Amino acid sequence: MQIPHKSVLLKETIEVFQNIHEGYIVDCTVGYGGHSEAILKQNDHIKMICIDRDSQAIEFSKRRLKPFEDRVVFVQGRFAQVINRYKDFPIKGVLADIGVSSLQLDSNERGFGFNSNTLDMRMDSSQSLSAKDVINYYSLEKLENIFKEYGEIREYKKVASLIVNRREKKLFESSIEFSNFIAKHLTNRKKIHPATLVFQAIRIEVNNELEELKKLLDSIQNLHIHKCLVAIISFHSLEDKIVKQTFKRWQKSCVCDENVLKCVCGNNHSIGKVLTKKPIVPKGEEIENNPRSRSSKLRVFKIDRG
Ligand SMILES: C[S@@+](CC[C@H](N)C(=O)[O-])C[C@H]1O[C@@H](n2cnc3c(N)ncnc32)[C@H](O)[C@@H]1O
Repeated sequence: MQIPHKSVLLKETIEVFQNIHEGYIVDCTVGYGGHSEAILKQNDHIKMICIDRDSQAIEFSKRRLKPFEDRVVFVQGRFAQVINRYKDFPIKGVLADIGVSSLQLDSNERGFGFNSNTLDMRMDSSQSLSAKDVINYYSLEKLENIFKEYGEIREYKKVASLIVNRREKKLFESSIEFSNFIAKHLTNRKKIHPATLVFQAIRIEVNNELEELKKLLDSIQNLHIHKCLVAIISFHSLEDKIVKQTFKRWQKSCVCDENVLKCVCGNNHSIGKVLTKKPIVPKGEEIENNPRSRSSKLRVFKIDRG
């Protein structure tokens, strides 16, 4: 079977779960099953709940993980919603490797890549909002906002107005047409394609990625599990910041306002401990073999409610 996606930080991620010998581990983003397969091999007795919003990913993983079928449940859907359905299960580990998979990026018809002939970028092909709607029909202000917030693009006003002027003459039909248009007008001193941040912003908007991540973290907290290891891999600073701040908040025992002189909250709100003061990042060798891993960061939290 040809594997279209190289799992990032594979060894480092499965090591997080190596001492779990019973119960369930949830893979919130099974993708092409790489992390799940390695966990199932390593942890003989555990079961897994494997989630993805992309039906192609679920179909692929079902085939890849066939040898372990009696230990795996597959669910297509958005991770925060799905995980809530399993709150009565003995969950001992949660993994989320967020972002896009190589198959999504490399499939012409999914519209994630710069050279694609479509303009789509939906992780779940059954949802209605696509990149075409965002680029061709969002207002100037909305475009400015997503380029500023999700792309952190300095020239966000210029990019938005270029798009609006051009689409008044002719709507954008494909990613290749759109990325060439951006490249013609934006220069980039870094070694990345000039349209990288614009594509990132549109993808985040289409898939509501930051909100999804926040909802997932809230759902994990609200599962009220006693002991559980939570490992999150992110691919850009916006996601990493959400993970870092949430883990910090989870660890905090006192939740009083900063300005109060004396603690009045009971000082007993911590749900566990951050295990990664600094995020785990890929080594040079991994980046050489899989350049897409270069921006990945793994953070781990140990929920321990005593
Ligand atoms: C980087 S890939 C995961 C790769 C996987 N760990 C592997 O080793 O093959 C990320 C996956 O997360 C899925 N995904 C992203 N956001 C999601 C969400 N809110 N709910 C469920 N799946 C999501 C994407 O569809 C994609 O397949």
